[in-house]
Amino acid sequence: MRVLLAGGAGYIGTHTAVALLEAGHDVVLLDDLSGTHAVAAERVERITGKPAPLIVGDAADESVVESAFAQHGPIDAIIHLAAFKAVGESTQKPLEYYSNNLDTTFALLRVGIGHGIRSFVFSSTGTVYSDPADLPFTEDSTTSVDLSNAYSKSKRMNEVVLADVARVNPELNVTVLRYFNPVGAHPSGLIGEDPAGIPNNLMPYVSRVAIGSLDEIGVFGSDYDTPDGTGLRDYIHVVDLAEGHVAALEKAQPGHQVFNLGTGRPVSVLELVASFEKAVGHDLPKKMLPRRPGDVAATYCDPSKAGEVLGWCTRLSIDDACRDYWNWQTTNPAGYATVSEA
Ligand code: WQD
Repeated sequence: MRVLLAGGAGYIGTHTAVALLEAGHDVVLLDDLSGTHAVAAERVERITGKPAPLIVGDAADESVVESAFAQHGPIDAIIHLAAFKAVGESTQKPLEYYSNNLDTTFALLRVGIGHGIRSFVFSSTGTVYSDPADLPFTEDSTTSVDLSNAYSKSKRMNEVVLADVARVNPELNVTVLRYFNPVGAHPSGLIGEDPAGIPNNLMPYVSRVAIGSLDEIGVFGSDYDTPDGTGLRDYIHVVDLAEGHVAALEKAQPGHQVFNLGTGRPVSVLELVASFEKAVGHDLPKKMLPRRPGDVAATYCDPSKAGEVLGWCTRLSIDDACRDYWNWQTTNPAGYATVSEA
């Protein structure tokens, strides 16, 4: 299949492009480069030895999406990864988050359906689950449109839109993938997460402390009702996550389907830090801080439905993720920004 990856030059996008190419598919990357650099697309070609053409533009602009079909068609499927995703920022900029995260979906659906695509795969999030009593979350667990932040709400709204669009387009396979916490990097060290500024998420922050660009790790909360008092999350290696997208495309059933993509194995903040210290080879400076507003004590999934229907499950561990992230960080101390491919 030829697959249009909206947001394809980003962290999840580049890893998904590599997995698709290695599975024998073709890719077209569409990205506005607001959260990444064009060199990331060149790295996908370097890893796979296959073309990963990049169209720079806004996926919310139908003329830009049309140009992808005009230049690189026919396109069989769209994987929609183009979204703003910072939970904290979304509480301060709700209009930007709702318009970007929904307008991109509307444009991609209108143009894709107009060109007769067979599959639409949507990047959603485990933060749409709203009742901790449901843990471990299954796809039938309680979700809500009224969540704590515009990012998660925009993702749940997208899911509502997609369910209705799937209902009136029975020839279109719509697959919603609810990610838990993506971590790690490709083992080559050529692609990885490259957050701008000071990272909000745990693994990139720990990595910046390890490489010396930040002073110490702040552990947000040590009084949660968890085994070691720190927050529990379902950290999924980005290579496993990427392979979940290939499985979703290749094994999708007709109609509308939802899958959790996670390990099902909760890991605490201190356990992740200890694993990263193993990768680095020494202890890292850390301090206990008060809880971060909006954080939950625990979130993790039951990934068995993806196993049963897609034949997919994670195979990489938190140690693999820390080792690969550290390799990416040391190979690219300043991320993609200062790299100009020779
Ligand atoms: C993980 C744990 C923190 C930073 C994020 C996104 C969300 C979704 C999943 C896309 C928590 C603790 C963190 C730090 C810390 N992504 N922490 N010190 O909040 O689970 O969700 O990934 O769908 O949109 O926000 O991830 O990495 O920020 O936090 O102690 O400096 O690490 O309290 O327990 P989170 P996170």
